[in-house]
Formats: sequence, C-alpha cells, structure tokens
Amino acid sequence: MSDKAKAAGQAAGNEYVTLVDHSTGRKFDFPLMPGSVGPKVIDVRKLYGTSGYFTYDPGYTSTGSCESKITYIDGEVGVLMHRGYKIEDLAEKTDFLEVCYLLLQGELPNAQQKAEFEHSITHHTMLHDQITYFFRGFRRDAHPMAIMVGVVGALSAFYHDSTDINDPQHRMIASHRLIAKMPTIAAWAYKYSIGQPFQYPRNNLNYAENFLQMLFAVPAEDYKVDPVLSKAINRLLILHADHEQNASTSTVRLAGSSGANPFACISAGISSLWGPSHGGANEAVLTMLDEIGHKDRIPEFIKRAKDPDDNFRLMGFGHRVYKNYDPRAKVMQQSCHEVLERLGIHDPMLELAMQLEKIALEDDYFVKRKLFPNVDFYSGIILKAMGFPTSMFTVLFAVARTVGWIAQWKEMIEDPSQKIGRPRQLYTGYDERPFVPLDKR
Ligand code: CMC
Repeated sequence: MSDKAKAAGQAAGNEYVTLVDHSTGRKFDFPLMPGSVGPKVIDVRKLYGTSGYFTYDPGYTSTGSCESKITYIDGEVGVLMHRGYKIEDLAEKTDFLEVCYLLLQGELPNAQQKAEFEHSITHHTMLHDQITYFFRGFRRDAHPMAIMVGVVGALSAFYHDSTDINDPQHRMIASHRLIAKMPTIAAWAYKYSIGQPFQYPRNNLNYAENFLQMLFAVPAEDYKVDPVLSKAINRLLILHADHEQNASTSTVRLAGSSGANPFACISAGISSLWGPSHGGANEAVLTMLDEIGHKDRIPEFIKRAKDPDDNFRLMGFGHRVYKNYDPRAKVMQQSCHEVLERLGIHDPMLELAMQLEKIALEDDYFVKRKLFPNVDFYSGIILKAMGFPTSMFTVLFAVARTVGWIAQWKEMIEDPSQKIGRPRQLYTGYDERPFVPLDKR
C-alpha cells in the first residue's frame, strides 16, 4: 500500500498493521477490519500480491475465512449468540423453527411469519417415493450417518427444480426442503437399521413431535408423543443449530464456493460432522463412559488423557474456541437432569459423567489448558434416556445443524464478494528432478 493511500485511510479513521520483512527491510501495511463485537482481523488479501508471501495456518487457528452476521462466540467468557440473541434465551423462550427462521432471515418471526414458515416446513417433510428404494440399497447394519451422507447427497437428483443457486426462489425452496426433510431421512435411516417400516410425517404434529413419531411409532399401535421428550428434542435442536465456522460449516461453505448445489454441500457437511473430534463426539462420550464403567476407574482414564504418548482424549471435553464452560453444555446438563427425573430414570452413567467432570475440572492439566465440558458431554446421556441408540446421536446433531449450514451457505452465495475457496500451501516435497524410466527404478 502506498504511503499516500495509507495516510488517506488513517485520516478516514482506518487502522493498519505493518509487517516488516527483516531480511530485506521492506514494510507492508495491512488494513485492520473491525467486527461489530469481538477482535479485529488483519486483512491479508493483498499479502501475496504485495509481498510474495503466503500465511501458514494449518487448522485455521488464526484465520477468519469469511464475514458473517449469523453467529457470535466469545470463547474466553463462554458466550454464544445467534443474530444477537443469547443461546440461553433462545433455548428457554423459543422453539426450533423460530430459531431456524432467525438464522435464515436475520430476525425472529412475528406470529404471521412464524405460521407461514411452519406451514412451509410442515408441507415439505415428505420424501419423493423413489427415495425409499435408495434406502433399501444400504446394508441393514449400515451406520445411519453413512445413510445420511448418501441420501442427502441424492436429494439433488430428486429436486432439480431447486438447484439453481443463482435463483433466490430456488435457494429458499432448497433451504425449506432441507430443514423439512432431514428429520424424515434421519428417522428412516434408523427405522431401516432396525428393520421397521418407515413412518410417514404427520402434519398435525410440530417439528419435534413429528420427528419423534417418525422415529418411535409403529403402524400396529397408536403413538402418543411424550411432551417431556418433545421439549427435550426441541431444546437439543436449538442448542446445536449453528456454531459459526466449525469444521462441517466450513466444509459446506467450501463445497458451496465452487457453485455446487445445496444438497451436495449439506451432504459434504454431514461427512465432516461425522468425525469424533466434531459431531461424532457425543457417540464417543457414551462409548468412553461405558469403557470407564465405574467411578473408581476415573483416575486411570484421566491419567491416560494426560499422557502425551497415549492418543486417548477425554471425549466431550475441550473446544477450539471455548476456553471456558461451553454455554450449551450448561443448558444441556440442566436438561439432562430434567429429562432423567421426569422419565424416572436413574442412570449411573450420569453420576459417572458428573464425577468425571468434577475430577477433570479440579485437575491441573485440564485447568491449565482451559479444557471444559462441551455440548457433547451431556447430550448423549439425554439421548440414551430417550431411547436413541448411540449410532443415532450424531444424526440428531446433523438434523439440528442443517439450518446452520444452510443459513451460512445462503449468506455466502448472497455475498457479492464471494470467491471460490482455495487455500495455498507450504510445499516441502522434492524440487524438480530427472524422470527415471521404469526399468531403472
Ligand atoms: N482430553 C485430553 N487432552 C485434551 C483434550 C481432551 N479432550 N482436548 C485437548 N486436549 C489437550 C491437547 O492434548 C493439547 O495439549 P498440549 O498442549 O499438551 O499438546 C491441548 O489440550 C490443546 O489441544 P488441541 O488439540 O491443540 O486443541 P484443538 O483446538 O485443536 O482441539 C478439540 C479441539 C475439540 C478437537 C479437542 O479438544 C478434542 O479432541 N476434544 C475431544 C473431542 C470432543 O469432545 N469434540 C467435540 C467438540 S464440541 C462439538 C463440536 O464442535 O462438534
């Protein structure tokens, strides 16, 4: 940047950061961009053009990949807000579809907007009938997340009329379809794995009730939705709805940046979510608690988690952004007590989890590294109490996060400065060398 341009920028109130290359003595100025809250970012878009250097940041620990107005996290104090509303308020005072509307449209709906949105989602819950054959192509013992990846990707082959990403109407219909059909796909993935017939959606039920009915009803009996369970599912969906630029959301944005259709992008997000460091952690927490088995064995596992030569980690603990208690985990812990109490379930796993949490929070290793329970630590216990098999835990997360993915995808597509995502690398392989013919290798 020229000195003149910088002086003009400073006069207009802009701030700059100067990078000094001590090997050549050259100086480069980069603008500082302020957010509405939170730390400023250094705009390095012209770094390569002016200096010939790239930045190096594997895992993107210091890199902002986009501008967004949807979700704000302050990890130091443990704050999560969607469109300016605190997650605790949303979890207590709204329902999931209101949060979906908020994430997609930027504002909470009024009564009429809410009714219209609910009507649209409710009337998009059915799947094209041929999709049932698609399910039957999977092995019976397929993990439901594998089915989710396949079936959601396949939606683009069934709904051609909403795959033009440049048409706002197509984007809106695709968004509604994804939010509406995800519970149907998730419930059918479960039904398929246990050999029960698919339950069709019921338009007289709300989103959470309908999801439960498609999961747990059978044609031979009447099914009455337990309000305690539908409240718990509603809250769980809200708590997982969005979380700014996490691995799966970044995957959706990256896939979408090439112009791919939204169904394909969301399928990519589901794949990314599946891993145990991300959405798969809720399943991994229960597997871990099962393995620990008794509180007397906690010290042994804490010791393993601290051992740098052992790759065991305390699942449900730690977070890239939260260096304080995850606000979602607090709500989830409270919800966990409520559900178990109302269902009259005494689960020794909850006591084990609470004991593990207490010991870890007092341990110097965890204190120093600011490792606190995250959202996944208690969600598995609730889901288990509600009758979900462990393999469905991450599926529930995917159903909830779909709205976050789609809102972030939509925001990206509607951003005029959007470009295809294309990181650079630090190459450490061979320099050019002579080709060796096969008979000489
Ligand atoms: N148990 C033991 N040690 C841990 C843990 C843990 N769960 N998490 C982090 N550490 C240690 C890690 O070994 C490292 O120690 P040192 O500085 O001595 O090398 C330090 O803490 C920093 O860890 P990191 O791996 O550099 O941190 P990260 O930001 O790359 O990883 C994480 C974040 C969530 C992947 C990690 O904390 C983890 O693997 N947690 C367990 C899996 C889990 O619960 N994931 C769910 C995340 S929340 C829901 C979601 O986003 O999907």
